[in-house]
Amino acid sequence: MQINVKIKRYDPEADARPYWSDYTFEARGTDRILDVMNHIKWEVDGSLAFRRSCAHGICGSDAMLINGVNRLACKVLVKDLGAKITIEPIRGLAVLKDLIVDMEPFFDSYKAVLPFFINQDPAPPAERLQSVEDRAVFDETTKCILCAACTTSCPVFWTNGRYLGPAAIVNAHRFIFDSRDQGAAQRLQVMNQANGLWRCRTAYNCTEACPRDIPITRAIQEVKRELLWRNA
Ligand code: SF4
Ligand code: F3S
Ligand code: FES
Repeated sequence: MQINVKIKRYDPEADARPYWSDYTFEARGTDRILDVMNHIKWEVDGSLAFRRSCAHGICGSDAMLINGVNRLACKVLVKDLGAKITIEPIRGLAVLKDLIVDMEPFFDSYKAVLPFFINQDPAPPAERLQSVEDRAVFDETTKCILCAACTTSCPVFWTNGRYLGPAAIVNAHRFIFDSRDQGAAQRLQVMNQANGLWRCRTAYNCTEACPRDIPITRAIQEVKRELLWRNA
């Protein structure tokens, strides 16, 4: 099938404002959007800039706004979009070039919630054991690949780039509800700030955008409840 791909381009060092590049060529319905972009980059226009790595939905590097929805380019097929495809950078983060955005603010928020195991007890001779039931409590939030599709689809984040954002809260959830971890109070304190947890207005965009199907809004609600319960 013949497809038409419009890609929003912008090089802050060379362009006064963003503009659209337009490409029309033959593609298969089973091609992924990442294949389409690689074709453009390798065969048509080598100046196009975008991130990608694993090509299998694992590394989280190729989140883009594709036909108006945040998705991973390697997980969307041409046949699911039709012949007209528009691709823009994810929103709310500064564009460095074309589809490459500055991820530093996103990772600063991630780092702020202490996304690592905290336990001051002496390490046991083997592993720290956990029941199947206790492990299940935070199973879904272990699946995050830090693609930023959630945070950059959140209307609160668009208007306030200092909002911690859903991805950071998801990763805090992963440790707060881990029965072996002892850092929940520290993480909850970080999130109980002006630009923390309470900025969430349950817009649900994050949940719809997540390529790992993590029930993000529910996880945020669980963290809110935990904070209220501890402060009661
Ligand atoms: Fe991506 Fe989902 Fe993790 Fe958000 S929660 S960063 S959308 S994998
Ligand atoms: Fe934003 Fe998700 Fe809350 S889109 S407002 S973080 S439910
Ligand atoms: Fe790794 Fe798409 S290239 S998730």
